[in-house]
Amino acid sequence: MSTPRTSWTPSKGLSDESLTAGGLIRAASPLDAAALARVQRESWRTTYGGILPLDVIARHAGRRSEATWRRDLVASRGVRATWLAEQPGTGALGFAMCGEGRAPIEGIEGEIYALYVLQSEQRRGIGRALVRAAARHFVRNGYFGFYLWVLKANRARLFYEAMGGQEIAERTETLGKHPFGQVAYGWHDLTALVG
Ligand SMILES: CC(C)(COP(=O)(O)OP(=O)(O)OC[C@H]1O[C@@H](n2cnc3c(N)ncnc32)[C@H](O)[C@@H]1OP(=O)(O)O)[C@@H](O)C(=O)NCCC(=O)NCCS
Repeated sequence: MSTPRTSWTPSKGLSDESLTAGGLIRAASPLDAAALARVQRESWRTTYGGILPLDVIARHAGRRSEATWRRDLVASRGVRATWLAEQPGTGALGFAMCGEGRAPIEGIEGEIYALYVLQSEQRRGIGRALVRAAARHFVRNGYFGFYLWVLKANRARLFYEAMGGQEIAERTETLGKHPFGQVAYGWHDLTALVG
């Protein structure tokens, strides 16, 4: 039986920590460290097979441990936050980790460092709800734009384009000994996302 389609669009007038129809987007706490490590590990495996060599996936998939997540969540304050999507009874389904840009592009100062939705839960609006939660968080903290980096070969680019992101930069990163092209998508104006 297929999973019923759930609307994850955050309700107008409610905060990011509000219940959506069937799902919840809330700020993660240190208690969520294990769940976030699990979602990231699983997502790395399902996302990068066919894009990255197996040795790179094996080395990086479990790189961010539960302990690292916990340390990061304990230290998160201000604009640095992780937004977590969950459904009662099922646990964490996805997350968006955001904060100050590590290397601002075109004057855009916010960055989404990581965004992952479990493969089984994709195309249900969770990614959109997480990006909107991050966008509202940026605006609340006085950041009026954000960017993120994605591998050129990742079909997540279609999602970022659907979310209104514009290609603003390119670079080559080395993972293991392999060079990979990346592209940055930027949002200069968050009005449409937070509205
Ligand atoms: C990219 C990702 C976060 C999107 O999350 P999601 O919950 O699947 O996306 P949504 O359901 O909110 O999609 C919103 C819209 O984006 C577009 N979109 C999303 N995924 C798409 C895809 N694979 N191909 C084409 N368009 C896509 C569609 O327009 C979609 O609306 P629709 O379903 O009504 O047509 C998710 O697919 C994911 O975690 N992928 C693997 C990890 C990854 O690559 N993360 C990014 C690393 S930089």
